[in-house]
Amino acid sequence: MDLVIFGPPGAGKGTQAKRLEGLLGVPQISTGDMMRTERASGSELGKRFDSFMTQGLLVPDELVANLIEKRLGEPDAKNGAIFDGYPRTVNQAEVLDGTLAKLHRQVGVVVSIEVGLEDLVDRIVGRRVCEACGQVYHLRYNPPPSSGRCGACDADSLIQRTDDTEDKVRTRYDEYKAKTEPLLHYYGRRNLVRAVSGVGSLDEVTQRIEAAIGK
Ligand code: AP5
Repeated sequence: MDLVIFGPPGAGKGTQAKRLEGLLGVPQISTGDMMRTERASGSELGKRFDSFMTQGLLVPDELVANLIEKRLGEPDAKNGAIFDGYPRTVNQAEVLDGTLAKLHRQVGVVVSIEVGLEDLVDRIVGRRVCEACGQVYHLRYNPPPSSGRCGACDADSLIQRTDDTEDKVRTRYDEYKAKTEPLLHYYGRRNLVRAVSGVGSLDEVTQRIEAAIGK
């Protein structure tokens, strides 16, 4: 199955995508994570990503296109994927449709996680991420162990993302409203969108998603 997890910054896309991997047996593909890995490598491409990401702006479509085609060629993605934070523009959605069509696949469902702006700011400003393994925490809603080390890999690597400040969140949200939200109409015309409230505990949101996709 090819599933898109959709929603504004901080809605819980990454958190829920990771939880769905086991259920669906297909990998999470996060363009944000892929870009952060490229940035950490110090490559020229990573520097170009960084110049947009640190401002809270979307990376231009032409820099995103190659990432996904390459990733879908890897063996673990041969039966489907959970797209997290991708596509983010109508152009990206058209590219994804074309890439999947070449593999005789198509987007089966789009789960749209709905959360209001003030909750998003609260979630993002309180987020901490393990730089070693990518595990995501929130200081209040999903706290890391009191040791300050990552509960998943035990590394001493919990950080706050550089784009997780209040002003950057508001810029990212504006980008989402202007360029990404129109995708609800793009996929809505094919009756693929399942809207779920993202407010509540992590388990409650997971249960809503499972019900929405019939699992
Ligand atoms: P990306 O990394 O994709 O960020 P985002 O979409 O802004 O989403 P986030 O990762 O901030 O949030 P999320 O929805 O995954 O929430 P999470 O589960 O972490 O992109 C970053 C940047 O990269 C972009 O700004 C852009 O520059 C670039 N980029 C990436 N992809 C691109 C693309 N395709 N095209 C162009 N540019 C691209 O949860 C958030 C917090 O809330 C966590 O602390 C979590 O613990 C907590 N939380 C989760 N669920 C709950 C709950 N139910 N209750 C309370 N707290 C919760």
